[in-house]
Amino acid sequence: MQQLDYNHIPAHISIIMDGNGRWAQAKGQPRTAGHVEGVANVKVITEEAVRLGVKYLSVYAFSTENWNRPMPEIEALMNLILANLEDEIFMKNNVRFLVIGDMSRLSDNIRKCLQSCIDRTSANTGMTMVVALSYSSRWEITRAAQLIADEVRSGKLKAEDIDENCISRHLTTSFIPDPDLLIRTGGELRISNYLLWQCAYTEFYFTDEFWPDFTVESLHRAIIAYQQRQRRFGKTGEQVTDEE
Ligand code: IPE
Ligand code: IPE
Ligand code: MG
Repeated sequence: MQQLDYNHIPAHISIIMDGNGRWAQAKGQPRTAGHVEGVANVKVITEEAVRLGVKYLSVYAFSTENWNRPMPEIEALMNLILANLEDEIFMKNNVRFLVIGDMSRLSDNIRKCLQSCIDRTSANTGMTMVVALSYSSRWEITRAAQLIADEVRSGKLKAEDIDENCISRHLTTSFIPDPDLLIRTGGELRISNYLLWQCAYTEFYFTDEFWPDFTVESLHRAIIAYQQRQRRFGKTGEQVTDEE
């Protein structure tokens, strides 16, 4: 087994935390029991990411499509997220907390608590943690198109100046680099409307482990797999080796 190389930790790790429901059902428990374990596991993995020196950790917590789930499950999830927004983990680890997604669909209470957590941690200088909540990539890209159209209409921006940077700047992720490594737990081989633009050159890692079973060692395995890959960005392998 390869060893983890602490000098080449991906700067931005993103995780689609899937499999909470099946984890619980396999144990004969209600799906929400899986969400309880899942939220607890976010803390474990966040602290390990801090320890490894990851600069950005983004996690997919609730998609736009997840609004179609049964209301009791949605409420249970929102309550769990609320209950776990206490500072302790962020302040103790110097983590700056941010949220991306369509906040207008969240309740006033959860919006307030999220904003307060963002404010309280805004001066933290360690890892940035981004939670995608009520988020979908197509929602975000559509919104960016509207924002850009408004700027062109008002004369603030010329149509010919719309380039890739301009589009990136109008996404909700404008303040963070693209993910280097995207991990999806739970066995599905898809990205479920997550960071479609931002993952153009991201390395993907899929594992069958359900999110509550994804341990610190699982995270290490994902990073080791990442470290064994050559990121070519369209060039030849020889060009990349020469540059290194
Ligand atoms: C991921 O686990 C958490 C959310 C999508 C909110 P799921 O709830 O999707 O669990 P499975 O995929 O049904 O097992
Ligand atoms: C993706 O999981 C969203 C999150 C992990 C928050 P889903 O369980 O909703 O994905 P699909 O619907 O099976 O693709
Ligand atoms: Mg799922």
